[in-house]
Amino acid sequence: MIYKNNPLFPANFMWGASSAAWQVEGAVNEDGRTPAIIDLNSKTKKPFADNSVASDHYHHYLEDIALMKEAGFTSYRFSIAWPRIYPDDSFEPNQLGIDFYNHLIDALVKNGIEPIVTLYHYDMPVWVDEKYDGWYGRGIIDAFDQYARTCFKEFGDRVKYWLSINEQNMQICYGDWLGVCKNEATWFHDKWKVNHIMNLCHAKAVIACHELVLDGKIGPVPGYVPIYPSSANPEDQIAAMNAEELTEKVWNDFYTFRKYNGFIRSYWKEHHIDPDIQAGDMALIEQAKIDFFALNCYRSNVAKECSLTETEQKQQLNKTGRKGEFVYPKFPGLYQLTNNPYVETNDWDWEIDPVSLRYMLRYVWDHYGLPMMITENGYGAHEDISADGKVHDPERIRFLRNQIFQVGRAIQDGCQVIGYNPWSYTDLLSTGNGMAKRYGLVFINTTDDELRDLKRIPKDSYYWYSRLIKSNGQDWGEET
Ligand code: BG6
Repeated sequence: MIYKNNPLFPANFMWGASSAAWQVEGAVNEDGRTPAIIDLNSKTKKPFADNSVASDHYHHYLEDIALMKEAGFTSYRFSIAWPRIYPDDSFEPNQLGIDFYNHLIDALVKNGIEPIVTLYHYDMPVWVDEKYDGWYGRGIIDAFDQYARTCFKEFGDRVKYWLSINEQNMQICYGDWLGVCKNEATWFHDKWKVNHIMNLCHAKAVIACHELVLDGKIGPVPGYVPIYPSSANPEDQIAAMNAEELTEKVWNDFYTFRKYNGFIRSYWKEHHIDPDIQAGDMALIEQAKIDFFALNCYRSNVAKECSLTETEQKQQLNKTGRKGEFVYPKFPGLYQLTNNPYVETNDWDWEIDPVSLRYMLRYVWDHYGLPMMITENGYGAHEDISADGKVHDPERIRFLRNQIFQVGRAIQDGCQVIGYNPWSYTDLLSTGNGMAKRYGLVFINTTDDELRDLKRIPKDSYYWYSRLIKSNGQDWGEET
């Protein structure tokens, strides 16, 4: 379809931005918070900064919210740090941790900004890991349920949009990178047990939200990378479908239909995998009816046939920000990924593909028919303050303009999209590249090597985005 006019966004569309506790808050030892596994994981990512200070949002949240208000935000997606709420195995909630989120939520609501809250964005308390063997043991299910229930009871009068587990699919697919996998040698089998336990935690949270939050809505947050076939060869199409199943569709089918799909059941059988589904598990899951999909989408992939004679190759992420270091994976008999000659890439070899957003929204809407919000989408770059004291980020403006336009097109295609919250509001720690890979609309004056004054400097993209959202998606500015 060709549109002559700008797409129209619904009147109550939620325009905001996104963050996660461990990536922005800092203050890791304050007010009773105890360590999270991601604190330890972030220390292994040298030479990049760990999360002890991050963007110091914990001490700057009022200033950060004032800038959101000035920009015209109507939503803000952030996460709660579990070890601030339950710092130890006494199971006594930590009032100071609760107070922090109460103050944050109150300030958002006062400024007309809808809080969208993720329960779990990688900060499992170390005590949970030690006591229950983290995601490997079933003890976490009740601990997570208790944590989620406390959040719903404490904040549910003001927070109506809840997200369960951030990018569960990516945590399983990249278990080593995100600190979930404990033993690389057995991960091929273990990951499906871990995944099932995460599914049970997700289900508990969905059920508790509906029980405890009046008018509360809750959804999962898959990390979504649309996958195109590399050619019209039918085998490439099947390869793309295999890749889609094993990286995202298995999860999205599960969340919506509340059972494991035929593809994964057959895959488990073929590979002698036992996900350890116990009596009562599926009956619990059956009750966990989600209300919407929160979707994180940054890029797309291309898949092609991978014959059984090929040698398996693990995907290797580009961890340096020097172009050309990404290694595409090969799974003989299933699929291999390859480059896409039709799209550009950023310094970390991530495809820059605005159409992938329209594709994803169309796909998810067609398959699941649930409302959708974008909770992550953004442009990571090396950046610093210019000589004029400002931060100029024309590439991010170009990225956002093209991507948001495609969200508008998907809405015109008939998809129900209720909000757009790009990654990220302020600069924050990247999962593996600290402050070297910046995503923010607002610059945070600090680097991996040097702790600076943490001043907030709105980037050019902040002003551009502000104009767009104040016009409800009509003022796209001048093309650069
Ligand atoms: C998403 C995560 O997968 O991607 C975020 O939810 C993360 O936590 C973002 O920061 C960007 O990835 P990265 O590795 O560039 O930080």
